[in-house]
Amino acid sequence: MIALRTEREIDILREANQIVAEVLATLADAVLPGVTTGELDELGEALIRRKDAVPSFLGYRGYPKATCISVEDVIVHGIPGARRINEGEIVSIDVGALYKGYHGDAAITVPCGPVDSLRQRLIRVTDQALAAAIATIRSGVYLQEVSRAIQETCEAEGFSVVRVFVGHGIGRQMHEDPQIPNFVSGERGPKLKAGMVLAIEPMVNAGTADVRVLKDMWTAVTADGKPSAHFEHSVVVRQKNAEILSTTPKRAWGQGVLMHGRHG
Ligand code: MF3
Ligand code: CO
Repeated sequence: MIALRTEREIDILREANQIVAEVLATLADAVLPGVTTGELDELGEALIRRKDAVPSFLGYRGYPKATCISVEDVIVHGIPGARRINEGEIVSIDVGALYKGYHGDAAITVPCGPVDSLRQRLIRVTDQALAAAIATIRSGVYLQEVSRAIQETCEAEGFSVVRVFVGHGIGRQMHEDPQIPNFVSGERGPKLKAGMVLAIEPMVNAGTADVRVLKDMWTAVTADGKPSAHFEHSVVVRQKNAEILSTTPKRAWGQGVLMHGRHG
């Protein structure tokens, strides 16, 4: 069953997601050569708590940290720790915040300093895939059209979409119905209705779509060791479009062209 949220609930979901967006913008600026993923996580957790929110991921199915920081060939669910980030690497930052009973969830992938053209293109295409997905959304559209936009955007560029992880509905729980595949599964899926709140999150690999999960039971890496990118927005379905909830004037993503508030 897919929840339809009232405007009052959507106002809180927007607040929760704006907290997430602000934390992501700050963490993105903190991705500098030599920083560890654990340091980014500590900063993220402090920022979430300073906004009177609670990290959604901490303790979720036993997940041990507040954020997921996924470097290079780590697709998602990178557990922050001693790993140092080097110039030329790409870093996915995924943040969730529970605020007044509702969850925000979003992710961004950023370069550490200058990165090669493959990595630049991977980031840009994944951002564009999220934008294309969001652009399909309005009341009455079948969910499959959202998935199709992501898959077509990525495969046209020779990249592959990960199949074992999907986007999701979000609200009082971080993961609610529906599941949102980043590829066409053959089922047209539910018809979108105004008031549904969806977390759309393409995970895109430069090489094979195949995934391996490390012994820590969380860290998902590409089977071929090639880099992977991940962007996520939480959006509400409106009659004629989608409203992005997880955005901030400081730094916007998932709108077709990466836009950076502070650094131009
Ligand atoms: N954005 C991810 C998701 O929606 C983050 C979950 S990490 C977890 O699944 F640790 F909380 F599982
Ligand atoms: Co999510």
